[in-house]
Amino acid sequence: MALVQGSAAIRTLAFGVPASDNRDLSAEIDERTEYGRFRQAEIYLAGLRGRRPRVPASPVELERRAQKAMSREGFAYIAGGAGIESTVAANRAAFERWRIVPRFLNDVSSRDTSVELFGRRLPTPFLLAPIGVLEMAHRDADVGAGRAAASAGVPLVISSQASYPMEEIARAMRDGPRWYQVYFSFSNELARSFVRRAEACGCEAIVLTLDTTMLGWRLRDLDLAYLPFILGKGIAQYVSDPEFQRRLDDVEPPSAGRPNLAAIQALYRLARAYPGSTWRNLFSPRPRAAARLFMQLFPRPSLNWDDVDFLRETTRLPILLKGILHPDDARRALDHGVDGIVVSNHGGRQVDGALASLDALPGIVEAVGGRIPVLLDSGIRGGADVFKAVALGARAVLIGRPYCYGLAIAGTDGVSEVIRNMHADFDLTMGLAGCASVDAIGREALVESA
Ligand SMILES: Cc1cc2nc3c(=O)[nH]c(=O)nc-3n(C[C@H](O)[C@H](O)[C@H](O)COP(=O)(O)O)c2cc1C
Repeated sequence: MALVQGSAAIRTLAFGVPASDNRDLSAEIDERTEYGRFRQAEIYLAGLRGRRPRVPASPVELERRAQKAMSREGFAYIAGGAGIESTVAANRAAFERWRIVPRFLNDVSSRDTSVELFGRRLPTPFLLAPIGVLEMAHRDADVGAGRAAASAGVPLVISSQASYPMEEIARAMRDGPRWYQVYFSFSNELARSFVRRAEACGCEAIVLTLDTTMLGWRLRDLDLAYLPFILGKGIAQYVSDPEFQRRLDDVEPPSAGRPNLAAIQALYRLARAYPGSTWRNLFSPRPRAAARLFMQLFPRPSLNWDDVDFLRETTRLPILLKGILHPDDARRALDHGVDGIVVSNHGGRQVDGALASLDALPGIVEAVGGRIPVLLDSGIRGGADVFKAVALGARAVLIGRPYCYGLAIAGTDGVSEVIRNMHADFDLTMGLAGCASVDAIGREALVESA
């Protein structure tokens, strides 16, 4: 009885709402208009029953726990950036330079975190970024991320380097919103085939990533001599593609080399990663040939504006260019009939020493002048980051590594937890800064500190 009275007192203290003992506080808070308080209630009340969240809310702890859950190679691949990772650091430093100036007495009792993007109203101004090789975090991989995204109504940008074919991810997402991210390889026919498949499985936009015409110089992966694609990981879109399979017929598989333990393990991994029976794949040259063909075709350093035109002619879906960091490239994108821009430095994985994507945002927003939506990623770790990006003109942001870490810790549920925490944090930041809706967040909400 004392405990029950205590819990009521804590509920009253913590939330300022007198709660009767037989009603759950989270049921008294409207999830639709006060998501942050709803989520706090959920977590703190579970705490009264002795339950702590499995997926930490703190981004630092999230990364630390994910590291424990992953292989050395998996963590290096996800956490790592290019070179000495100065761009990874710059992304965070840029968010730190902007400070929020809260305003008060605005009645923020009911808040609307939704935004409109390409004719669809999204519950929050964020999407899940395209992330390749999610199987390194957890076997649920993209199917898990897709399920979690769909249940929150958050779009997933399905990666070209996903661990599952896009059709399988789409099936798991049911009617959840999804986009497709394409990399051009040396074959335009392959790019066309990817886009056709994306259209057929209900993707609502195509994201062309510009910044990976070659892989960045990633020290963590180099020092482990580890690239997942060579082992057949993260090439599910390719091996499931009819155009890729057609080309595979003409490929000479690489010789297996002198058998040592590492080579046998590599062969086994390739056989497992390839569709069909692992046993049969072990005796087939096709898995080895597929990895070789992928490495021959990917990536495409010759990528240029003609390829954007090719994509424009290939699909009527909205096209976004991901990786733009210069206002002139943004202006040129408009000339080529692009529908949206994702300001991004690929989470610091490509050019070490590149400018932070948040620093590039204001110039690009100005160049675009409201004609098409501008999105941002690279360094988003909490609700305040989402707020700052929106205040500087982003329509929405892409969440990257944090959801991989949630996935690594708890699979599909882990991604859900990360989305829920990001939503709650953003809702509370928005309200506490004096804004009742995303539209109310403007440039005047920020100051730049020295
Ligand atoms: C492990 C990993 C794999 C990625 N794979 C892709 C990809 O396949 N396609 C793509 O466009 N971007 C890819 N990205 C970049 C993300 O879409 C996004 O730009 C980046 O994660 C944002 O940085 P942040 O995670 O530090 O916030 C990848 C990022 C990581 C960390």
